[in-house]
Amino acid sequence: MTAILELKDVSKRYPTGTVALTDISFSVDKGQFVSIIGPSGAGKSTLLRCINRLIDASGGEIRLEGENLMEMNKRTLRRTRVKIGMIFQHYNLVERLSVIENVLHGRLGYKNVFAGSLGIYSAEEKAKAIDILQSLGLEEQVYKRCDQLSGGQKQRVGIARALIQEPKLLLCDEPIASLDPNASKVIMDQLRSISKVMGITVLVNLHQVDVAMKYSDMIIGMKKGGVVFKGSAEEMKDETIFNIYGSEASELGIDIGESYAS
Ligand SMILES: Nc1ncnc2c1ncn2[C@@H]1O[C@H](COP(=O)(O)OP(=O)(O)O)[C@@H](O)[C@H]1O
Ligand SMILES: [Mg+2]
Repeated sequence: MTAILELKDVSKRYPTGTVALTDISFSVDKGQFVSIIGPSGAGKSTLLRCINRLIDASGGEIRLEGENLMEMNKRTLRRTRVKIGMIFQHYNLVERLSVIENVLHGRLGYKNVFAGSLGIYSAEEKAKAIDILQSLGLEEQVYKRCDQLSGGQKQRVGIARALIQEPKLLLCDEPIASLDPNASKVIMDQLRSISKVMGITVLVNLHQVDVAMKYSDMIIGMKKGGVVFKGSAEEMKDETIFNIYGSEASELGIDIGESYAS
């Protein structure tokens, strides 16, 4: 199988001097569901931001479908960025706008600045937005303002906005950290189905080890900017979890599956 995403010795040092990533290497296949776990400050968000080039890595290679993202000029980068959808912990919606308007924002990467600012979307794009919202169970919410939605519904809008981009890769930074267990399960099930049914590669930063173990084809454990584990849920032992989280492990409660046993 060919890797859709390949990282080789990626490092990141912030202008403040903080070294957030050191020699990160891994590759991910098409349609794989990968979780990145690790304590606060491990570098998980930095890693996702480097992959979609919200920030520049300091060294190494990041390849999407074989093309090195770090060597792209602005124009190529703009074209490549639409292949990468992003989901955030706090949804990053425009709360005073309607659900469908927020979803259509996912098309902005395809438009020139002028068309985008005038909100010119084709009938086809609008129909597609409604289709996606239906598939995520939001058909009743299409014309509601986002500030009227629950957290779980807002996150589904975030997913719809990413999907209308027709991405190859979905990067999710703590997508369930602000949600209750029921809403979290809905979101995780949807992300899993996006990877398995639609063949979109999903990379999720997660704090909950049990969730990572339930959903992932591969888990990457990070600690202090480095990868300390890479493998399947079966390969992840209690010692591994203790190694990744240190003294935080007992607080997290590493017994597996309580709220997620199905
Ligand atoms: N914009 C920034 N400027 C300077 N240092 C940062 C910035 N963002 C994150 N860091 C630092 O980089 C390290 C990794 O942070 P982060 O990627 O947010 O970790 P995580 O998402 O795993 O909690 C931390 O030490 C953090 O303080
Ligand atoms: Mg983070």
